[in-house]
Amino acid sequence: MRRLICAGNWKMYKTAHEAADFVKIFLPLAAAVPFATEIVLCPPFTALAAVSHLLTTGRVRLGAQDMHWERSGAFTGEISGPMLRDLGVHYVIVGHSERREYFGDTDAIVRLKTAAALENGLTPIVAVGETLPVRDAGNTSEHVIAQTRAALEGLSAMQLARIVLAYEPVWAIGTGRNCDPAEANKVMSEIRSCVPGLDDVPILYGGSVKAENIAAYTAQSEIDGGLVGGASLDPAVFAQLCIAASASVSS
Ligand code: PGA
Repeated sequence: MRRLICAGNWKMYKTAHEAADFVKIFLPLAAAVPFATEIVLCPPFTALAAVSHLLTTGRVRLGAQDMHWERSGAFTGEISGPMLRDLGVHYVIVGHSERREYFGDTDAIVRLKTAAALENGLTPIVAVGETLPVRDAGNTSEHVIAQTRAALEGLSAMQLARIVLAYEPVWAIGTGRNCDPAEANKVMSEIRSCVPGLDDVPILYGGSVKAENIAAYTAQSEIDGGLVGGASLDPAVFAQLCIAASASVSS
């Protein structure tokens, strides 16, 4: 059985102090989330150490939002896999649409980052998704399948078994306009079957996920949780979301 994951992507929000304040409030609330649901927080790089120090029980896992593919080198401003591992980071988001759109992360770069994450003992959360023009042109499946195949190219069966995927329609991110759950499920089933060996890989839905709508997603056969932006910034709201996601699966 695939695991259920609720991952909070904080993007460029929260200083280290604000992040620590969140965690102190969130941890007691997270005790009410069924244990089978994995909870992940992905703060900005500058808050990773502060959050890591507070996540001593392992109930909530730490993720980063991006990484460089080289282990070290003259890459001003970049952060490598070993640096993340050293801080207790477990997951790393790669290929988020904001990285693709604003920072030039091509399919080739996403592939390098995915492989580097695995080589450094990190679990990549590989994000794919179509823009509105691509969707309106009826090319959603073709687009996300191409992104998925490109990101996973060259990985061994053992490496594929360790990844997590996220389907995030770009037009649904931060817009309040979420994708119909059945439609997301259909796209995710196409993603799951486009590369052999993804049967047991969790696929998360992302794009305007809230405590009020997460259960409709996790009730779908192919959806194994959420990659959550805005609704992960408040500890009570995110805890509520994690509980709602879990209720749907166990009912
Ligand atoms: P959102 O962001 O939940 O604010 O739409 C999701 C994401 O970008 O991962």
